[in-house]
Amino acid sequence: MQKVLLAISLVFIGVNTYSAELAIPNVLKTGDATNGASLVATCAACHGNDGNSINTDWPSLAGQNQKYLYDQLGYFVSGERENALMTAVIPYLKTLSSDEMLDIAAYYAESPASVGQADSDADLLALGGSLYRAGDLNRGIPACTACHSLYGEGNVQAGFPKISGQQKGYLISTLKEYRSQIRNAGNYALVMQAASANLKDDDIEALANYMHGLYRK
Ligand code: HEC
Ligand code: HEC
Repeated sequence: MQKVLLAISLVFIGVNTYSAELAIPNVLKTGDATNGASLVATCAACHGNDGNSINTDWPSLAGQNQKYLYDQLGYFVSGERENALMTAVIPYLKTLSSDEMLDIAAYYAESPASVGQADSDADLLALGGSLYRAGDLNRGIPACTACHSLYGEGNVQAGFPKISGQQKGYLISTLKEYRSQIRNAGNYALVMQAASANLKDDDIEALANYMHGLYRK
């Protein structure tokens, strides 16, 4: 809980000044990606062979950080995070050990992520870019860069997810689920419930378009 409060207060203090103190030790061991590759045959139908989903509504997993993936798998298995399509693989995931789940997370983390193409509508891009980089203090919207970084890579050590290149339909649905607090698995979800509380539908559309097309040059 302390970590979450720290993360929330950082948004308002300005994360750059404090990032040195926030160094979180990388205590998570690394999974075996080669073994992970042998465990994901049933996942490819929706997440793609290499973790790059081809459907706008289904998330890509490629290049996502290991800690975030591992945590989310745990939430699906425990039932804290629910999704109709993911339900199909939960019986299978329950047969795996936690080391095997870490191997799956390591496999996707090492898989190269595709770059997305944003809709070039100028107004949409301007709104998305400005909210993503600066937030809107008057409307109580934090800068997304504080935790997801300027180019959307997230924060590997803290396990803040990469959102660059993520599928647009999924970004929209999941931001709405944080806003309505349907997505509520784990303490980190509370951070995003707060960050999305004051977003309007138009803001979410614009942010999703911007994040989908974001990449490091
Ligand atoms: C039938 C389609 C389908 C299959 C098969 C499937 N998934 Fe998913 N998966 C989804 C959808 C849709 C979501 C988004 C859930 C949501 O919106 O909460 C998701 C979400 C996830 C997430 C969270 C992604 C994020 O960015 O938060 C992980 C991790 C994941 N799946 C892993 C797996 C693994 C591992 C397998 C194979 C054992 C698998 N999935 C099989 C459809 C599927
Ligand atoms: C204080 C840190 C912080 C800020 C600021 C923040 N996020 Fe997040 N974000 C997180 C964390 C931590 C998670 C993982 C939450 C979880 O486990 O459910 C997350 C998750 C997400 C996800 C889900 C990723 C996935 O694969 O399912 C999206 C989308 C997202 N954030 C977008 C945004 C946007 C847009 C903004 C700016 C309006 C923002 N975030 C601001 C920390 C932050």
